[in-house]
Amino acid sequence: MKRQASSDQGMWRRQITFLLASSGSAIGLGNIWKFPYIAGENGGGAFILMYLLCITLVGIPIYMAETVVGHETRRNPVTAMSILAKQAGQSQRWRWVGGVACLTGLIVLSYFTVVAGWGLHYLVNAFEGAFQNEGSYAVRGIFIDLLSDPVAMLRYQSLFLMTVMLVVGLGVRAGLGVAGHVMVPLMLLMLGLLIAYSHSLGDMSAAIDFMFSFDTDALNWNSFLVALGHAFFSLSIGMGAMMAYGAYMPKRTSIPSMVFAVASIDLLFAMFAGLAIFPIVFASGLAPGEGPGLMFVSLPVAFGNMLYGSFMGALFFALVVVAALSSAVALLEPAVAWLNERRGIPRPIGVLLLGVLVWLLSLMSMFSFNALQHVEVVSGLNIFEFLDGLSANVLLPGVGFALAVFVGWRMDVQKFSHRRFFSLWIWLLRYVTTPAVLVIFVTALIQHVA
Ligand code: PFF
Repeated sequence: MKRQASSDQGMWRRQITFLLASSGSAIGLGNIWKFPYIAGENGGGAFILMYLLCITLVGIPIYMAETVVGHETRRNPVTAMSILAKQAGQSQRWRWVGGVACLTGLIVLSYFTVVAGWGLHYLVNAFEGAFQNEGSYAVRGIFIDLLSDPVAMLRYQSLFLMTVMLVVGLGVRAGLGVAGHVMVPLMLLMLGLLIAYSHSLGDMSAAIDFMFSFDTDALNWNSFLVALGHAFFSLSIGMGAMMAYGAYMPKRTSIPSMVFAVASIDLLFAMFAGLAIFPIVFASGLAPGEGPGLMFVSLPVAFGNMLYGSFMGALFFALVVVAALSSAVALLEPAVAWLNERRGIPRPIGVLLLGVLVWLLSLMSMFSFNALQHVEVVSGLNIFEFLDGLSANVLLPGVGFALAVFVGWRMDVQKFSHRRFFSLWIWLLRYVTTPAVLVIFVTALIQHVA
C-alpha cells in the first residue's frame, strides 16, 4: 500500500473549496436546532464559554487529527489508518477506527435524513400557509400526524436522501465542492434575512438574555457532557468525514488555519441561528421549548402568527433543509470512497448500494414513531432514540478517543514537529484531549448502562 500524492476520488484545487465544503458539513441541524436551545438551558454565556473550551481543547485537536490522517495518505478512512499504522509499525487493527467511523456516518445519516425529511415537509407546509394563524395545539397536531404517517415521512425522507445521493454521486469536485460553494453562501444569506426579520419584529433583547446571560448555577457535570458531545457532532468529527475531506484538500494548505476557520464559522453560525430563532419565539409569548418541539411546534406557531410569516417560515425551513443537505453529503462520502478504493466499486454504484442500505435503516427510525412505537431497543429507548444515543454517546467519542490515541501516541509525528502549531497540537492531543475524552466517554457509558 503506497502513499500517493492525490486522491483517487479527485481533489479540490483551491483551499476555499475545502473551507466551504467543511463548513457546509459542520453547519447543520446541530447549529440551527440544537445549539441555541442547549446553550439557553445550560447557563447561556457560561455554557458558551464551556463549549468554547471543549472546542479548543478537544474538538480542534481531533479535527486536526482527522484532517491530517486524510491529508497525509490521500485515501479513505480505512485505508488511511491502515497505511499510517503500517508506517508506524503498529497493528493493522487500527484500520477498524476508520471502519467504525464510516459506519457511524451511515448510522447518523439514517436518522439525520428522517429529521431533514420533517424539515422538507414543513417547508412545503409553511409555503402553503398551513401554519397561518394556528395555535400550538393545531401545529402540534400537524407534527403528531406527520409522525404517525410513515408514508408521508417516507416520501420526504426519500426525496432528501436521493438528493444527497445525487450530490455524492457527482463526485468530489462537481458534487461536494460545488455544493459547498453554492450552499454555504446561500445559508449565510438566508440566515442574514431571518436575523433582520427577527430583529425588526421579534424580541431581540429577550433572546440575547436567554442565550448570553451568565448563569453559572445552571452549569453542572451534565452540561459538560452535553457541551463535549455537541462539539463532536457540530464539528462533524468521529464519523470519518474530515478524514475524507482532508484527503481532497489541496497540497499547500495550512491545516491549522483551515480547522480554526471552520470551527469559528460553525460556532458563529450557531450563535446567530439563536438570534434568528428566539426573538420571534419570545415575541409570540411561547416557551423556548425542548427538542424537536422548538423547531417543529413553537417556531411554526410563531411564524404563522407574524407578518409575512408564511414566507419567512418557508425561508427558515429552507435554511434547515439546505444546512442538513450540506451536512448529510459528508456522512455518505467516507463509505463511498472506501467501497471505491478498497473494493473497486465505481462511485455511482457505491452511492446506490449505500443509499439503499441507509434507506432501509432509516425505515426502522421512521417506523419507531408509529408501527414500531412499542419496540424498545434498550430500556425506554425506541429505535430512533437508540441510534441517536448510540452514535452521539458511544460511537463518536469512541472513534474520537481512538484517533487521539493513535495520532498523539502511536503515529509517526516527527515530521510535523517543525511546523507552526503542530507541537502544541500533539501536546494537547496527548495530555489534554485524550484524558478528557476518556473521562467523558466512560461517564457517558456508565450513564448509558445505569
Ligand atoms: N455537523 C452537523 C450538524 O451540526 O448538524 C452534523 C454532522 C454532519 C455530523 C456531517 C457529521 C458529519 F459528517
